Amino acid sequence: MDTTKPENYSTNHSFQHNLGIELQQKHMRWEEGDTVLDAGCGTGEICKYISQQPGVASVVGFDVSPDFISFASQHNSSANMRYHVSDVSDASTIKPEWQAAFSKVVSHAVLHWVQDKVAALKVLHSCLKPGGEMLLWFCASNESKFCQIVLDMATHHKWKTYLNDFEPNLFPWPSSDFVNGGHSSYFLEECGFEVLSCYSKSYQQPFGSKEKWRKAISTLLRHLSYIPQDRHEEFLDDVEKMSRDINFVSDDYKAIGKCQVVHARKL
Ligand SMILES: C[S@@+](CC[C@H](N)C(=O)[O-])C[C@H]1O[C@@H](n2cnc3c(N)ncnc32)[C@H](O)[C@@H]1O
Repeated sequence: MDTTKPENYSTNHSFQHNLGIELQQKHMRWEEGDTVLDAGCGTGEICKYISQQPGVASVVGFDVSPDFISFASQHNSSANMRYHVSDVSDASTIKPEWQAAFSKVVSHAVLHWVQDKVAALKVLHSCLKPGGEMLLWFCASNESKFCQIVLDMATHHKWKTYLNDFEPNLFPWPSSDFVNGGHSSYFLEECGFEVLSCYSKSYQQPFGSKEKWRKAISTLLRHLSYIPQDRHEEFLDDVEKMSRDINFVSDDYKAIGKCQVVHARKL
């Protein structure tokens, strides 16, 4: 995704925001004194939302993008919130005081951007207090039309002259990791989590217009920074055509797809 333009993500991420809040309302019960970590917090709107929930004492958000963290600090801060630049899959970037410090961890729309899932899960586990809860959503390899679009556009014959050096850095969670009819995961169990729920969720999110859908998808397509500005609309025409072909977007600009949800507890 493009993490160099935080204002674009902040104004065009209603899909991620609405899904994150819907899942929190379904799975999380905020309790008095909750200390919450948001791993891959982006521009901080979900951190701010959590910080305003009854009982929540404090929220820490971290992200690998310095630009996003700078934006979050400026636009989505309050007295009980802190932001940092850290990499969820690199334990050396995690602050020592975060060890076993959090009663809840969320990480929404992040782990498909992270190659080493086990390293990331170990970090998230280490930050939780025993019995603490974690809520994730991410894209899985067997069903993510979004990942298909990002990866297929990276090798599209028409655009390959521009995209020779482009690495999508997108790593959908391997579906082979899910066991027990898709209701558990080796990685999670190996990292010391009890899986409370693990399931594939279907979504249909209306964007309302071609322009809004294009702005939202553009924030996730770092391809565009390799393509001349005057050809961006043409590139997006091809993204839209491919999205229609696999029914990832409808005629009235609803995004249609599936994502993986995990609610787990530290043993
Ligand atoms: C689609 S955004 C999701 C942001 C936010 N969680 C939300 O729901 O709106 C993905 C975020 O993951 C961050 N990210 C990607 N790899 C990361 C890593 N290794 N460690 C921490 N954050 C990472 C990106 O910088 C980006 O802000």
